[in-house]
Amino acid sequence: MSTTEKTPEKKRVHVKTWGCQMNVYDSERMTGLLKPLGYETTETPEEADLVILNTCHIREKAAEKVYSELGRLKDVKARGGTIAVAGCVAQAEGAEIQARAPQVDFVIGPQSYHKLPEIIAKTARGTGENLYTEFDVDEKFDALEEGRQAEGYSAFVTVQEGCDKFCTFCVVPYTRGAEVSRNADAVTLEVRQLAQQGVREITLLGQNVNAWHGAPPVGASGEAWGLGELVRHLARIDGIDRIRFTTSHPKDMDDGLIAAFGEEPKLMPYLHLPVQAGNDRVLKAMNRAHTAESYLRQIEAVRAVRPDIAISGDMIVGFPGEDDAAFEDTMALVREVGYASCFSFKYSRRPGTPGAAMPKQVPEDVKSERLQRLQALLNEQRHAFDRAQVGRTLDILFEKPGRLDGQLLGKSPYLQSVHVIAPESLLGQIVPIRIEEAGPNSLRGVLV
Ligand code: 5AD
Ligand code: SF4
Repeated sequence: MSTTEKTPEKKRVHVKTWGCQMNVYDSERMTGLLKPLGYETTETPEEADLVILNTCHIREKAAEKVYSELGRLKDVKARGGTIAVAGCVAQAEGAEIQARAPQVDFVIGPQSYHKLPEIIAKTARGTGENLYTEFDVDEKFDALEEGRQAEGYSAFVTVQEGCDKFCTFCVVPYTRGAEVSRNADAVTLEVRQLAQQGVREITLLGQNVNAWHGAPPVGASGEAWGLGELVRHLARIDGIDRIRFTTSHPKDMDDGLIAAFGEEPKLMPYLHLPVQAGNDRVLKAMNRAHTAESYLRQIEAVRAVRPDIAISGDMIVGFPGEDDAAFEDTMALVREVGYASCFSFKYSRRPGTPGAAMPKQVPEDVKSERLQRLQALLNEQRHAFDRAQVGRTLDILFEKPGRLDGQLLGKSPYLQSVHVIAPESLLGQIVPIRIEEAGPNSLRGVLV
């Protein structure tokens, strides 16, 4: 019998990712889990033995894109490759995918990623199933926390998953399940490991990240912690200089978290706090559990402790029952907030959500016209915010080489991309930079 250890055969995996940062993070974790099986990542599906489509279900076009992508993957199958569909479309429409796209070897929901190595092995032996969409979040968190390989100087860390809010337009409570918080000790361990690998900035992730709550770490004070306490705790880890979190719900924006923006210098002055609409009748129909006024008061409270903070958000136009006057309320709220950046979408009718069955659906052309007006205003605000940085000196974390020779690309505290002519030795460093110019999508600065 041979005693030599068997090294796994080299194979290639291609992961295509749609949707939110949670999906970006999950894709990284999946490729991380596949490394020990001999899988290297490749940018092109043409040379892949395994293709994973990590999908998003939040608006209808996303699911359609998945089906057309599956149509393009014919030769992966012809070469004997494996095709998997992951993410929220997988969770929501697993059976439909199998009926519509028989070339898919297996469908895997976000709560089952930790089983990926086992599933791949079973698929290769022909003993796999084709649907893995049960919910078992705790087990997933446990399996994923070990041996994380950091790439770069800024890393995402999942601290919370799922959502219990049931906004009437949204599929997330159905695809990602109930809110679950990862415990503080596990998060701390992962962040320490990342710091040891040179990570300087962490972004705490969750569908409802500010609903994070948990028992304090062993030996720490307090009874139940909220996200504000967790942020302050992680800020004490050597090497971690910047902390961000996304995405938040106004209902969970508690005083402790707001205060942290004023007191914890490592918490970056950037808050993504979606409001969705500016009219109270529409907000009520959306089941948002806040009003336009209560949202504005929260923004005021955050600005009182951190006046320079960049406010970001999400907006939906054309929710059922949104008339012209209600839409004008959204425009008025946007003018009052002054967003540094904001995502905006046309309402998309998602099967199974209460909004889909509501009367007074808004015609497509009206939605398009409103979206255009809203985006023109938001673009103006973004440019105004960017231009206001010209002449200031900002701390920039250099993350990677820029597009031009000799240039580095970094991020400002306000999450703006900044291009600077600077030596590569500054990668991973936080450096004061004078901002000289605001372009359409990024800033340009010089070393001071
Ligand atoms: N239609 C349009 N936008 C939606 N979002 C969520 N569901 C829908 C939908 N059915 C938007 C919300 C949310 C963001 C992630 O996506 O603005 O905050
Ligand atoms: Fe969806 Fe609302 Fe939950 Fe956000 S808070 S994930 S919009 S249901």
